[in-house]
Amino acid sequence: MEYIDLRSDTVTHPTPAMRAAMAAAPLGDDVFGDDPTVNRLQEMAAEMVGKEAGLFVPSGTMGNLIALLTHCQRGDEVIVGAQSHIVLYEGGGISSLGGIHSRQIHEQPDGSLALEEIETFIRPEDVHEPITRLIAIENTHNRCGGTFQTPEYIRALANFAHARGLVVHMDGARLFNAAVAQGVAARELTTPLDSVTFCLSKGLCAPVGSVLCGSQAFIARARRVRKHLGGGMRQAGVIAAAGIVALEQMIDRLAEDHTRARRLAEGLGQIRSIQLDGVPQTNMVYFNLADSVHLTVEQIERQMQTRGILVHADGKRRFRLVTHYWIDDAAIDKTIQAFREVLS
Ligand SMILES: Cc1ncc(COP(=O)(O)O)c(C=O)c1O
Repeated sequence: MEYIDLRSDTVTHPTPAMRAAMAAAPLGDDVFGDDPTVNRLQEMAAEMVGKEAGLFVPSGTMGNLIALLTHCQRGDEVIVGAQSHIVLYEGGGISSLGGIHSRQIHEQPDGSLALEEIETFIRPEDVHEPITRLIAIENTHNRCGGTFQTPEYIRALANFAHARGLVVHMDGARLFNAAVAQGVAARELTTPLDSVTFCLSKGLCAPVGSVLCGSQAFIARARRVRKHLGGGMRQAGVIAAAGIVALEQMIDRLAEDHTRARRLAEGLGQIRSIQLDGVPQTNMVYFNLADSVHLTVEQIERQMQTRGILVHADGKRRFRLVTHYWIDDAAIDKTIQAFREVLS
């Protein structure tokens, strides 16, 4: 059975154009820097985010980890949102593998970190305390509802950080969703920052991979860290080829996912037992169940599955639904109808 799969945009399969590009890709050994397809992807990616160089990595998690291990020494501290993917879902890798201490602050409802609050968290020069080195932000912010950060905020944050001797990394797993939703070029959201990772394997539909971008010197050091972590891949052009198609063909259409997320939210918002977070800014719809609902989220997941729809609970009374390339208008209508039946 073909399911309507709203659990995440990571479930996307490569498009036919990607599969064709993968089959035809010229290849080499990327650990030697010899894979022309990987090199092309890295150059395209760097150019699109306004950076000197890029590094193809197996996952967003490894991209963030490499970035922080490259920027920081053991015992350094990063200021990062308490609801961020780095804190919640990356296995604590920055501390277990990098000896990096995380100082977690609460995001604002839009996923940003307030500059006034960051200021109070920056450590003074004192042997008792870790050294504050880096600020990490997430754009779009997953747990805050797929919310985006604006170019103005990014510029202000970068100026603030650099004036205090700090660097800024962006977990831009869904950077292009943030850019398309605001009608700006991705580089407007990244040029002022020191590094950015974005994922090819989410809404952009490539099967595998992310790109970490930054200065030439930063990426040269990051390449060593990638090798230490076992992320040096050989004929990686096979998967990078899909990434090139993702950047050439799949960015503008993200707007369709955002429109469908809004339509899904509108439909679900009419069901009395659903309490929506608000109007989705990008491709994520979050909602809570009203107290009147006596089903558990697991029961709801199962009942939706019997109707051919996969959904993912995000807490005991909460759901997150994510639109993507493989979700069309009919799938949105069917999902709204199925929730209406299950929750009636
Ligand atoms: C905001 C964010 N950052 C990073 C990642 C990690 O990406 P990956 O699953 O490729 O490791 C994800 C994955 O869903 C994410 O949502």
